[in-house]
Amino acid sequence: MSDMLTHTAGEDSAGPVPDFPMPRAAGCPFDPPPALLNLHAETPLARVRLWDGSTPWLVTRYEDQKALLSDPRCSVDLARPGFPYSSPVFREAAKGNSPSFLNMDDPEHARIRRMVTAPFAIKRMEAMRPAVQRMTDGLIDGMLAGPKPADLVAALALPLPSLVICELLGVPYEDHEFFQRNSEVGLRRDATPEQTRESSGELLKYLMDQLDRKLADPGDDLLSELATRVASGDLPRFEAAKLGVLLLGAGHETTANMIALGTLALLEHPDQLAVVRDTDDPKVLAGAVEELLRYLSIIHVGNRRLALEDIEIGGGTIRAGEGVILPGATANWDPEYFPEPERLDVRRDARRHLTFSFGIHQCLGQPLARLELQVVYSTLLRRIPTLRLATEPARIPFKEDGLVYGTYELPVTW
Ligand code: HEM
Repeated sequence: MSDMLTHTAGEDSAGPVPDFPMPRAAGCPFDPPPALLNLHAETPLARVRLWDGSTPWLVTRYEDQKALLSDPRCSVDLARPGFPYSSPVFREAAKGNSPSFLNMDDPEHARIRRMVTAPFAIKRMEAMRPAVQRMTDGLIDGMLAGPKPADLVAALALPLPSLVICELLGVPYEDHEFFQRNSEVGLRRDATPEQTRESSGELLKYLMDQLDRKLADPGDDLLSELATRVASGDLPRFEAAKLGVLLLGAGHETTANMIALGTLALLEHPDQLAVVRDTDDPKVLAGAVEELLRYLSIIHVGNRRLALEDIEIGGGTIRAGEGVILPGATANWDPEYFPEPERLDVRRDARRHLTFSFGIHQCLGQPLARLELQVVYSTLLRRIPTLRLATEPARIPFKEDGLVYGTYELPVTW
């Protein structure tokens, strides 16, 4: 550790700088990469090498990550030189494209986020529980009526978050293939800049059309609320469309990956699965969802920031203009905060996990994601108590190449 503590900008590391992201160990699809956990055990602050050869800092510890995520000296602005891009897609996004509020600093960020805070409040989300239950039951009916084995990703994990976000925004579900395909491009590490530009252009155009539709014929949905703000001059039409694109995209890929990967984790831990399946206590179910969010830490490229000023942290100094990577996995597997972190224990109190980030950018959709996951795990396991994998775990295709970790397919039978 002592080596690392003396590092500052421009100095060479004492050892080789490891590549990031790091590979997971074969046969351990749920565990963070061993090299990442070793780094956490060795040092609070380390240089890592990214795909473009840059060497930002990686902050390993829970407390330090939390401090930086709520530090106004850390920027999310992709256009700033030195930003640690997770892929060429993000570097491209920094050129010209006006950012969504996920990549704006305050006060601009706060101005836009304020406009969508109320629709995502826990109370309003809870009112959606019956609709989420109905949608989940409908998809499970379809799966049960179809052939065996079924792909849980295609049958349930992908369509449920799409159905839910369509209902919330008020866009037709018939269009989901179009926006799912285009949103997915933005989350692939290997997408080309042309593909990204094209897909984000298509999505923006789609949202502009939808906003116009709402202006002419408002409904009881989030897009109509935004259209009202456009009409009153509060929000430019383009910004409203950008907001719609963000909500449409953020709303399904992340939750879809949690549905499939969480189900797989439960199937591989039958004692934990039994707790989720058999409980009538909403608190136990909610706790299980928090533990799955902690254990799986699906945002495996980490949250990214750029230091605007020199910051003393973890016994070292991050200089102004240097990139910072905050991988939720090392915070969520910090044994000081979560004893025996490698143990999936749905009865532990995991609410402090950082899977939804922390500070001003912490996930706006977390009440919705929690609701969906609570409904889906419990309904799936109750309605199909004999649910099991229809393949060897080693044959499951994992999303090592995504910004969000998950499985491309999950063959199940019953
Ligand atoms: C399990 C599912 C989800 C996970 C793990 C997740 C994770 C995250 C994380 C880590 C961030 C913050 C990134 C940062 O600090 O740089 C974030 C932000 C955000 N999420 Fe989620 N998310 C999930 C579901 C959702 C859903 C369902 C929505 C609903 C539309 C949503 C909407 C957003 C938005 C709008 C932001 C930007 C907030 C801001 O910058 O102020 N997310 N999410």
